[in-house]
Amino acid sequence: MKKAFAILLAMAMVFMVAAACGDGGGGGNDGPLRVGFSQIGSESDWRVGNTVSVSEAIEGAGWELIFNDANQQQENQIRALRDFITQGVDYIVFGPIVETGWDAVLTEVKDAGIPLIMIDRTIAMANQEDFYVSWITNNFEEEGVAAAEWLIAYLEHNGRIGDNINIVELQGTVGSGPQIYRMQGFHETVNAFPNLRISQSETGNFETELGKTVMEAFLTKAAADGEPIDVVFAHNDGMALGAIQAIREAGLNPGVDIIIIGIDAVKLAFEAIIAGDMNATVECSPLLGPLVVEVIQQLEAGQTPPKTIINPRSTFDESLNEVFPDRFTSASSDVNNRVY
Ligand code: AHR
Repeated sequence: MKKAFAILLAMAMVFMVAAACGDGGGGGNDGPLRVGFSQIGSESDWRVGNTVSVSEAIEGAGWELIFNDANQQQENQIRALRDFITQGVDYIVFGPIVETGWDAVLTEVKDAGIPLIMIDRTIAMANQEDFYVSWITNNFEEEGVAAAEWLIAYLEHNGRIGDNINIVELQGTVGSGPQIYRMQGFHETVNAFPNLRISQSETGNFETELGKTVMEAFLTKAAADGEPIDVVFAHNDGMALGAIQAIREAGLNPGVDIIIIGIDAVKLAFEAIIAGDMNATVECSPLLGPLVVEVIQQLEAGQTPPKTIINPRSTFDESLNEVFPDRFTSASSDVNNRVY
């Protein structure tokens, strides 16, 4: 009798475990999949576009979205990831604000058995590929290279490639993948020309207001040194737009007296390029939501998604595209397609 009871108990337990694990959606109940999304903040139009893209795609797939905005604080992201573990979500979508400092919490996510989908920025930790199922991103280093290549082509085309060119740089959030690799790609490319000199480089944290403030300081120092600025390279369009305001307030003509290059390809940058206030922007698409959904669908179907998915990119301007249509794209021809 005791033996029969033990067998029945064991069977009941097996059934309960199977019911909890085997429904292929909803993490142990019959409801929709539950997806935790840890977002960095809302520092730029890019970021807002990214939040909308990922959120709408997850909800559009009929899944439950558990969203956390970390307000640009790494500790808030760490707390959000731990909270997702406690809530027992089925998947975590995570865009890390900076590269380092994730070892403990990503180990906890892994130990909890929750598949992690990385979006946007890079992490730097040992054996990092073991901690995520897929990473959906843009190539930040190539974006920096593309910005520098546009500048070199522009200077060549305008007969200025042999001139001394004074460049200032507005960096993104210090320690973030786009700040590190855009800087690296841009510097390595312009360094091939000794007369192209980066005289000032500070962070504007990817924010328009801070970009403006830092640009004001750049202009003040350049005036004091008697070295007029020729070029602004901003790690995103938001800071480029802030720089435009500072340049105009200093009585200069943005886009004419000072060449301005950004990254992201947001609609406001396209409008500034068309108005002649800005010169070029390198695309970095935030529209990663449909790819996130595709990855989750593949995992749900028992397939292995690609480990790395990198978005294609273009460089947009309103001058060189006519001369090099295979290298650059007209901003005015694409402005109406911009959704961020
Ligand atoms: O990580 C992508 C970067 O973050 C975008 O270029 C910038 O606008 C955003 O804040």
